[in-house]
Amino acid sequence: MSMPVGVRPKSLHLYIRTFGCQMNEYDSLRVRRLLAPLGYETVADIEEADLIFLNTCSVREKAEQKVLSFIGALRRLKERKPHLKIVAAGCVAQQLGGKLLNRFDHLDAVVGTRGVGLIAQVLEKIQKTNGRSVCLPEENPPVPDEDGREMFDSGDLTAPVTVMQGCNNFCTYCIVPYVRGPERSRPAVDILHEIECLEASGVREVLLLGQNVNSYGRGLSEDTTFAGLIRRIAGETGITRIRFTTSHPKDLTDDLMGCFAEVNKLCKHLHLPVQSGSNSVLARMNRRYTASDYIAKVERLRSICPDIALTSDIIVGFPGETEEDFRMTMDLLEKVRFDNLFSFRYSDRPGTKAAGFAEKVDPEIGLQRLIELQAYQAEVTLRKNLAEVGLVREVLIEGSSRASNGQMSGRTTHNRIVNFDASPVLCGKIQQVKITGAYSHSLKGDIVGRVDVYMPGK
Ligand code: 5AD
Ligand code: SF4
Repeated sequence: MSMPVGVRPKSLHLYIRTFGCQMNEYDSLRVRRLLAPLGYETVADIEEADLIFLNTCSVREKAEQKVLSFIGALRRLKERKPHLKIVAAGCVAQQLGGKLLNRFDHLDAVVGTRGVGLIAQVLEKIQKTNGRSVCLPEENPPVPDEDGREMFDSGDLTAPVTVMQGCNNFCTYCIVPYVRGPERSRPAVDILHEIECLEASGVREVLLLGQNVNSYGRGLSEDTTFAGLIRRIAGETGITRIRFTTSHPKDLTDDLMGCFAEVNKLCKHLHLPVQSGSNSVLARMNRRYTASDYIAKVERLRSICPDIALTSDIIVGFPGETEEDFRMTMDLLEKVRFDNLFSFRYSDRPGTKAAGFAEKVDPEIGLQRLIELQAYQAEVTLRKNLAEVGLVREVLIEGSSRASNGQMSGRTTHNRIVNFDASPVLCGKIQQVKITGAYSHSLKGDIVGRVDVYMPGK
């Protein structure tokens, strides 16, 4: 329906809460894009909401519990504001479907991972009928349908861009292939177009997303690899910085490693989840590499790009993990010395192969291992941060510091957060910052100069 010129639709308030990974962040951004033309504007205060959109995560049990208790707590708000609509989407919604509606009678709709593009239709249905809806399409939609992207300006300086969805790897602990479906790559022209639109709206840095970006291009009619895609983005768009996540070690090619040395716009940081340092655990996880394969890839990468920052994921307490297996993980951490690490205690995910494995590790032992590993890594991360002091780094200024102390904040190419004094007008600019101090999670510094825009094509 077209509006008469000069008449804006009444503004409705949308509150979005995103749990979990960047895939969900991206889907939440799509919901903002798709609902903006219907008059929805995002609000930060949940009390003001006409619509609450929850993007849920089921990757670990703890994440799922957090989501369920959050939904439960919304009952009171709905009682006070009966016109409020609450929609749950994402991986928990996909997995539980109608059961989620049965469990929470204040929930208005459940939208599966393949249904995010249909959010406007779902809303129309529940508003018109004042009923409830379950939207769980079985078909895999094109990745993703991007209605409205040209018109939408999120005001962000960094933005996620999906390059592929789903996963075919079936690591035995992981629920993703079940809730996100098989791997599908998105045509390069669409990705390039989206990045151009983002850039025109002021975005300076894109984060290319996929469960396993290294297998990008499989199944597309054009002959493209992920390394090829990065080179095209660097050469054909005006975006200033490129990051990506996540890579599976078994598929990390020399070509992609080469990009870190050759493509200036590509930030020098690789997230390369190893999960364990024990070959028998890795085999039972179905990771299809050994600890020495992993270390060999890291050595090769560091020979190509010596100052690359490396981060990883670790699961402790996987079924059957012995003390010796855990020591092998600690050995691997000592050998690689990651810049940062995300570590988790194993939790059973329904329907996965590992959930059926006997020999579950005592949760208390799992916790002890996690504590030991995190204490070790905290020390390594701090030392690596301290080694930055005195260096001058290029920082993309992204906004106010989280410490809300009047400082501004940005990230180095290595993905380290730096806080410093600067005028807010510098947001979106890359500046040379001299690092003057280091903490566990951030650095501090002083601006010492500005950086000119990168040469196109590099
Ligand atoms: N239990 C614990 N950690 C898990 N992850 C994925 N599934 C599980 C599980 N069942 C971790 C992995 C993965 C990260 C996103 O979450 O380390 O890389
Ligand atoms: Fe899950 Fe493994 Fe696929 Fe990553 S590669 S999403 S851990 S199945």
